[in-house]
Amino acid sequence: MELLPQFLFAACQRGAEGALKAELARRHPELRLAFSRPGFLTLKRPDDWSGGADFQLQSVFARCSGYCLARAEGARVEELAEAFWARVGDLAFSRLHVWQRDAALPGEGGFEPGVSRLADEIGQLLVRTRPRLGEGPRAANLRAANLRARPGQRVLDCIVVEPDQWWIGWHVARSVPSCWPGGVPSAAGKEAPISRAYHKMHEALAWSRLPLAAGQRCVEIGSAPGGSCEALLEQGLEVIGIDPAEMDPRLLAHPNFRHVRARAADLKRREFQNVQWLMADSNVAPQHTLDTVEAIVTHRRVHIRGLLLTLKLPDWRLADQLDAYLERVRSWGYRYVRARQLAFNRQEVCVLALRRPSLRRVRVLKATHRLPGPPEPPLAGHLEQPSP
Ligand SMILES: C[S@@+](CC[C@H](N)C(=O)[O-])C[C@H]1O[C@@H](n2cnc3c(N)ncnc32)[C@H](O)[C@@H]1O
Repeated sequence: MELLPQFLFAACQRGAEGALKAELARRHPELRLAFSRPGFLTLKRPDDWSGGADFQLQSVFARCSGYCLARAEGARVEELAEAFWARVGDLAFSRLHVWQRDAALPGEGGFEPGVSRLADEIGQLLVRTRPRLGEGPRAANLRAANLRARPGQRVLDCIVVEPDQWWIGWHVARSVPSCWPGGVPSAAGKEAPISRAYHKMHEALAWSRLPLAAGQRCVEIGSAPGGSCEALLEQGLEVIGIDPAEMDPRLLAHPNFRHVRARAADLKRREFQNVQWLMADSNVAPQHTLDTVEAIVTHRRVHIRGLLLTLKLPDWRLADQLDAYLERVRSWGYRYVRARQLAFNRQEVCVLALRRPSLRRVRVLKATHRLPGPPEPPLAGHLEQPSP
């Protein structure tokens, strides 16, 4: 049986560490906090640990998590790369993910999460300096860093906590975000969308695997100026945006878009008949969002299959209420309810609710454009040792 490392790592949004630590204390009281920096922490597991190789933290705020092998420190990148590969030794991996802890809050001063330039350069260096373990399919997998993993693949993580301090970890890809480098989908679609909510919606759709079909109708409450509606229109949906504020003229010109200029609570329920999906992104307190959505989805003539709700957390202490918020959503008849702080979220979380869990798309979505790399060989056993 494989000997598992003593430590785990978790990455989160910068500033969300307090919420993450409080959540882990509730859900995983057996784990002890070890090292902590904004956006990154490690935890010590107990000796009698039952979590297996593909253990993942039960967490809304952990963007990416896994086991932690060691840290490498050094002034020169070549030195760090050598220490990195020395520690990895002959462990076998199907993917190499190299990513940096967030430098700022998403959207702040032009910062957006994702593989930074530095991480990209380090990834190229690690690929160049990797020990050649043979020219079999597994070596071919590590010919490029930051390829999206497939479920079941074992991923080697190089986490750039500081330019001169890299942490070496690994995880087994299981959930959709665990297939993405650092739990962040690569930026998709338009380079200059109407608003950054466009990327947030792309990520929400990829994470949630909502089975959207062209021609279905979707409402967004809090839709102005319109980035998320822009992403929904790209899915071929008919979109109704509800917001007292002005929408971007590019959306108003779209044949599948309609703007209802009002507050959601002032609308007649008939606006929500024949609507399959409801999104909410209003800049109001979570209680207010939930009151508004409840009044709509519990109406007898409204049959909404799924929800994607942004709950704003202007005060981090509201994170303690998340379980109660999710319970309230379940009480409306939604059996599958999950929350995640998306990488493109700011101080807020995304809640997914589906009437029936089977509604979730089985296939893992091709979230975004793929990073370049060789074609993948068939899936190998994820705990295999490298070929001699
Ligand atoms: C974060 S912005 C939404 C961004 C938008 N989703 C996008 O894609 O660009 C929040 C919006 O919520 C709207 N809002 C606040 N309260 C509302 C309510 N009760 N009903 C509808 N919209 C509301 C505001 O006017 C504001 O435009």
